[in-house]
Amino acid sequence: MDNAMRAPQHFLDTQDFTSDQLLHLLDLIELLKRADRAGACPKLLAGASLGMIFEEPSTRTRISFEVAMTKLGGHALYLRPGEIHMGQRESIRDTARVISRMVDAIEARTLKHQTVLDLAADSKVPVINGLTDYNHPTQALCDVFTMREHSQSGTPLSDLRVAFIGDATNVCSSLMMICTRLGMHFVHAAPDRYQAPASWQKAAGANADASGGSLTVTDDVHWAVRDADFVYTDLWWWIGQEEEIPDRRRAFMPAYQINRELLDRAPARAKFMHCLPASRGVEVTDEVIDGPRSIVYQQSENRLHTEKGLLVHLLYPRLRRASAALTAYHGGLIEDFLNR
Ligand code: CP
Repeated sequence: MDNAMRAPQHFLDTQDFTSDQLLHLLDLIELLKRADRAGACPKLLAGASLGMIFEEPSTRTRISFEVAMTKLGGHALYLRPGEIHMGQRESIRDTARVISRMVDAIEARTLKHQTVLDLAADSKVPVINGLTDYNHPTQALCDVFTMREHSQSGTPLSDLRVAFIGDATNVCSSLMMICTRLGMHFVHAAPDRYQAPASWQKAAGANADASGGSLTVTDDVHWAVRDADFVYTDLWWWIGQEEEIPDRRRAFMPAYQINRELLDRAPARAKFMHCLPASRGVEVTDEVIDGPRSIVYQQSENRLHTEKGLLVHLLYPRLRRASAALTAYHGGLIEDFLNR
């Protein structure tokens, strides 16, 4: 069967990928980053199009996917609800069926996780999850790539310890899943009420049992950072949680803020990470995010290299490439028609 006709492989959740597949992706991202740094990014996706649906604002995800397509020789379209019919005059199902006949892949940031699942169910082309209310798998893939880059040379992933401090966000869920799948050691530290729910812990715990990694959920933030190679945090509240801000601030501040005093409790090798955007002075201080142990901007840049790797992995095997002879044959037919 023609590759383009096969059921598409989506990127909705790293749980759909084996550890070997994820490691293969990390190696591909590294190769593409190196090529890009040499000014030699190959046009592997020449002529391909990516439809990008954003139900919420984005800086990193939007720019990284759009630039990745351009660098690889393709093209991206920014599709905002309100500017396309999805969810208002047209069902998600019909949107997926129509768009996927015109583009080679769809990236979607949706308010509800179910929306990206519904898009994927009816899409003829790969769908990439660009963040939902449940997870953010492209961010997590980028984060592990960044951790591999910033750990001492030769340190296997199975020796790395990640302390995620703060709310059980969609980024927390994705990072918990990918780290435990890859045999890493993941600790989530938060007050009881904001800890990862039991269903996440069950899935990540099963990953850890299979991979040799570990998962710990605790309210003891000092314990969480004491052996950490990476100290990670995310926003304490998001759009739609405005009414909860006073409660959340009381629960997290000051114990769970990443400030110098807390970071000093981690080993000297520990680096600070944040998916961004950050609320400076809330979950992290300026001194930490701008300090020598912060790798947040390298992490941000790696979104670009990650998207290139993902797009090449999902699209390259599916693209039709006609021979020069076949292109010349069709060109000749069309020109003959036009010149009649
Ligand atoms: N980290 C992240 O996804 O950033 P954006 O919301 O800017 O895309």
